[in-house]
Amino acid sequence: MKKFLVAIVMAVLPLTASAAGGGAQLDHIEVDPTNHASIQRGMQTFVNYCMGCHSAKYQRFERTAMDAGMPNDLVQEHLIFGDQKVGEQMTISMSPADAGNWFGNPPPDLSLEARLRGPDWIYTYMRSFYKDESRPYGVNNVVFKDVGMPNVLEHLQGVQVNNCTPEELHEARGKIDPLTGQSMNSCMTTVKKGELSPEEFDKVIYDLTNFLAYIGEPYKQDSQRIGTYVLIFLFIFFFFAFALKKEYWRDIH
Ligand code: HEC
Repeated sequence: MKKFLVAIVMAVLPLTASAAGGGAQLDHIEVDPTNHASIQRGMQTFVNYCMGCHSAKYQRFERTAMDAGMPNDLVQEHLIFGDQKVGEQMTISMSPADAGNWFGNPPPDLSLEARLRGPDWIYTYMRSFYKDESRPYGVNNVVFKDVGMPNVLEHLQGVQVNNCTPEELHEARGKIDPLTGQSMNSCMTTVKKGELSPEEFDKVIYDLTNFLAYIGEPYKQDSQRIGTYVLIFLFIFFFFAFALKKEYWRDIH
């Protein structure tokens, strides 16, 4: 019995380990693939602002349309800008070799980005660009030092300046003052306002991250639904299997 308990504890232990990496603390969000409106807005932001450089080649436009409840013809009309068809994968025409020359590193395909880095990382990354004249595109990033990507949403967010010491960044990121509801990370200041308020901008990035998390596992909702049925089936089957076992062993005991 003791061994059995130890085995159970060992089996669940890894679940409690959190991703305690170095670098800045990440802001936490709960992604929600059932929030179709959010996924739709996220896809809109993605095709408008990201697909110039990043593909999502393991996802088809049609699959997102189906999962997020959008009619195919509307997707074809409003969310596909090239001559692609709705049934095709979300590829782009920028060649990785050219892009590598322009940006230092080619922009990676983002289909599995949320699986690689996690939604919290993407959410924090997209909101953490700050002004840095020493970089080719004039920006640096708190969670991705010396990133090759320009801050493509700068006109929405505004320009941030980072006066934080590394400790301050680590401490204060993501902490919200319970009285004012404002971020306590005051060493990161906005020097030029964007078109959106900070709350509106966070919402845009939430939707975008929700979309990226969804395309990382488009089948997640199906798996969870089928998984529930399987567990219900196993629960009911248990009684029959148990009755059968009793029947077989009756004469032996
Ligand atoms: C002008 C081209 C360009 C646009 C537009 C662009 N990116 Fe990037 N992005 C890059 C480049 C280049 C890199 C690689 C940076 C590096 O490795 O230094 C990158 C890297 C990233 C990464 C990190 C990848 C990794 O290494 O894990 C993420 C996440 C990302 N981009 C998200 C986005 C999102 C979301 C958008 C749309 C809002 C977007 N990008 C728009 C060029 C672009």
